[in-house]
Amino acid sequence: MAVQRTFSIIKPDATERNLTGAINKVIEDGGLRIVAQRRIHMSRAQAERFYGVHSERPFFGELVEFMTSAPVVVQVLEGENAVSRYRDVMGATNPEEAADGTIRKLFAKSIGENSAHGSDSEENAALEISQFFSEADIVG
Ligand code: CMP
Repeated sequence: MAVQRTFSIIKPDATERNLTGAINKVIEDGGLRIVAQRRIHMSRAQAERFYGVHSERPFFGELVEFMTSAPVVVQVLEGENAVSRYRDVMGATNPEEAADGTIRKLFAKSIGENSAHGSDSEENAALEISQFFSEADIVG
């Protein structure tokens, strides 16, 4: 598998508890390189667009409220097999099911406030990265 990129968000529950550095350490220890990073306060429009695929789900309103409630850190991560590697580093969406040592096991508060987002495919990674970064922002 070649070097790949994936998109990551350190979510409001984590930035509010000052966990950006701790989460970045887990990311780097997991073999991924942070090649772009920016702290932003997501607008409602950005969150609704980003999570558009979930717009019919019962938790959509809650998800948009949460993602716009405090700053987030958007990131591009690079490494061998980065999409699936980062999903392993994050652990299961529900922290009760996440493996020891993963970001969600270590830090997540609940299935909604679960500290990190990572792309689920290489195709979605490219789309998600392009919503927040231009190629010039990414320094590998
Ligand atoms: P994420 O990987 O960012 O992609 C979709 C998000 O929806 C997911 O992480 C969770 O934070 C959130 N989510 C999934 N299921 C639920 C749920 N049952 N209640 C609230 N939020 C959820």
